[in-house]
Amino acid sequence: MKALVTGGAGFIGSNVVDGLVDAGHDVAVVDNLSTGRRANLPDGIALHEVDVVDGSAIETAFAAERPDVVFHLAAHIDVRRSVEDPGHDARVNVEGTINVLRAAHRSGARRVIFSSTGGAIYGDAEAVPTGEDAPIRPLAPYGASKHAAEGYLALFASLHGLSTIALRYANVYGPRQDPLGEGGVVAIYCGALASGATAIVYGDGEQTRDYVYVGDVVRANLLAAESAATGSFNVGSGVETTVLELAERLRELGDGADFVPRHAPERAGEVRRSCLDATRARSAIGWQPQVELAEGLRRTLAHVAAGMR
Ligand SMILES: NC(=O)c1ccc[n+]([C@@H]2O[C@H](COP(=O)([O-])OP(=O)(O)OC[C@H]3O[C@@H](n4cnc5c(N)ncnc54)[C@H](O)[C@@H]3O)[C@@H](O)[C@H]2O)c1
Repeated sequence: MKALVTGGAGFIGSNVVDGLVDAGHDVAVVDNLSTGRRANLPDGIALHEVDVVDGSAIETAFAAERPDVVFHLAAHIDVRRSVEDPGHDARVNVEGTINVLRAAHRSGARRVIFSSTGGAIYGDAEAVPTGEDAPIRPLAPYGASKHAAEGYLALFASLHGLSTIALRYANVYGPRQDPLGEGGVVAIYCGALASGATAIVYGDGEQTRDYVYVGDVVRANLLAAESAATGSFNVGSGVETTVLELAERLRELGDGADFVPRHAPERAGEVRRSCLDATRARSAIGWQPQVELAEGLRRTLAHVAAGMR
């Protein structure tokens, strides 16, 4: 299959690229390298350095590649910046997705796999683990823009017959997540542990998250490409882990290092409990997580430590 991965130079996207290449597929990437890095890509992968907001440049890239399947991961992912500048967030996540859907349809793509979010869409859900039918209550523009983009996926399916699916990820972690960025607490803590710095816990540390390993997310994308399922599906471990537990697990992996987190004031707008029920993905696309948190953390820490040597 010919695959085009938008955001393919980023954390999850580059892992999707690796998964596709390993499975013998022909892969091209669209990425504006705003947070992604060319070095994340294997040699020989065509990279179109294009912004998804630029509709005509996206059309040109898609017309050149004529993909069978599009994995759309390019996005504005900074939740706090989405609060400060919701217009920018919407331009990239809503208009950018519309541009990708249009170009996919016009270039004859069979299917689009969209990277959505569970954690940022459901907000403070009443039922935890949270299923797909829970009320949509984003606490920030980022969740609202991702949900709006899902609406356009459904419209391109009904109006143009484009086969689409949205995967709503929990907190994804693993190799290549930026330890210095806003991305994920696992990467930030691994960076702190590997460099001898102190981890910061906002609030009491009892807030929970659902950590899903990036390799499992890659498998969800590959399975979604093969299936004909449409709609939105949670991709998470179904296990709630507090931030304090996460820090403790990393401390254990760090050979008894003196890794005691420092508490800072709670941050406004943070979800208290977040955990996804992925039962539907299991029955629809045959996906379930395989990498336990302890093993995933071990791999991530090894990767971060190797990068700092
Ligand atoms: N990391 C998580 O826990 C998580 C959770 C839920 C959903 N997601 C989604 O997964 C996807 C990938 O996220 P990630 O964590 O790998 O982030 P990332 O920042 O590493 O990857 C995003 C990629 O998109 C590129 N990009 C950004 N804006 C662009 C634009 N306007 N045009 C072209 N390329 C652009 C970046 O350069 C980067 O390579 C995103 O859609 C994100 O919303 C991530």
